[in-house]
Amino acid sequence: MKNISAEFLTLGIESSCDETGIGLYHSEKGLLEHQLFSQDIHAEYGGVVPELASRDHIHRTVPLIKAVLASANLTLKDLSGIAYTAGPGLAGALLVGSSIAKSLAWSLGIPALAIHHMEGHLLAPLLENERPNFPFVALLVSGGHTMLVDVKGIGEYQILGESLDDAAGEAFDKTAKILGLGYPGGPALAALATTGNSGKFKFPRPMTDRPGLDFSFSGLKTFARNTFAQHPEQKADIAKAFEVAVSKTLMIKCKRALEQTGRKILVVAGGVSANLSLRRELDNLGQKLGAKVYFPRPEFCTDNGAMIALAGHFRLSGGQFDDDFAINIKPRWSLADLPAITN
Ligand code: KG4
Ligand code: ZN
Repeated sequence: MKNISAEFLTLGIESSCDETGIGLYHSEKGLLEHQLFSQDIHAEYGGVVPELASRDHIHRTVPLIKAVLASANLTLKDLSGIAYTAGPGLAGALLVGSSIAKSLAWSLGIPALAIHHMEGHLLAPLLENERPNFPFVALLVSGGHTMLVDVKGIGEYQILGESLDDAAGEAFDKTAKILGLGYPGGPALAALATTGNSGKFKFPRPMTDRPGLDFSFSGLKTFARNTFAQHPEQKADIAKAFEVAVSKTLMIKCKRALEQTGRKILVVAGGVSANLSLRRELDNLGQKLGAKVYFPRPEFCTDNGAMIALAGHFRLSGGQFDDDFAINIKPRWSLADLPAITN
């Protein structure tokens, strides 16, 4: 193993779902480069087909690593460590990233480290120049997860609440499908909502009428289905009412989480944090509460390799690495089980 020195170059590999993402993070210079390949093969099936996703990661990962290194004028020999998404996610897709990361690290004699995909999202706002300081409350809203987390430091995560059924992004995608907007539907629904009238329909704000920080979004999609059946010509108004309901519900729960923890910083990440209506709602909340709200730029909200390289950088340079070269994945993995960085 190379010594973990002050100058440390981490390669990050993301392959948990339908995007191959590669990032390169330097301990002194920050993010050097990142590139993404979004698989479009799933659109005709109306959702991600796991076997097709795995096969495509196999074709994309190595060329993308080469492209990222070439664009940063570096070679494999310059790498100090390799971080890869080990879960949660699709098992076959995770296996591709894990196999490539472990084989490369073994052949180069450098450490490899399993990264939790949601920790990648959670830390993505630290890729920006204006970084949030610990401690903070994080709202993570992706296609697979919706959670509120109290964050004291890297790996010091207390889950305050999470979705009991559909994740926020999943609810966007399913509602978009009901409205005939294709897959992935979140961005398409958000675009349609910009032309809708918010006063036409009022959707419920699930679980806001009782205490607690858990979420439930599956009822909203049913509400959308019923409303659409009765008013098939009012797609944009339905999209708008749905988006407002999700944004307001998330805002109400963020308010509670900030009040309950006494934190003054809110960090928002994951694919749905690219949503402009949600951003506006949470910015307003921050102003009302005197709290600072941080979002990553849109390309770091959705899946990417930069966030995995960053999470890997913190942990690898903190002395953590996988203790063998076995190919291990954790398709189910709780954020609360991650170790803190102790040094
Ligand atoms: O974080 P992400 O890229 O992947 C997962 O880890 O799941 O999140 C993808 C999710 C999808 O459900 C997608 O529809 C949603 O984020 N999404 C959006 C927007 N952009 C992406 N939802 C609403 N508005 C958007 N602008
Ligand atoms: Zn994600």
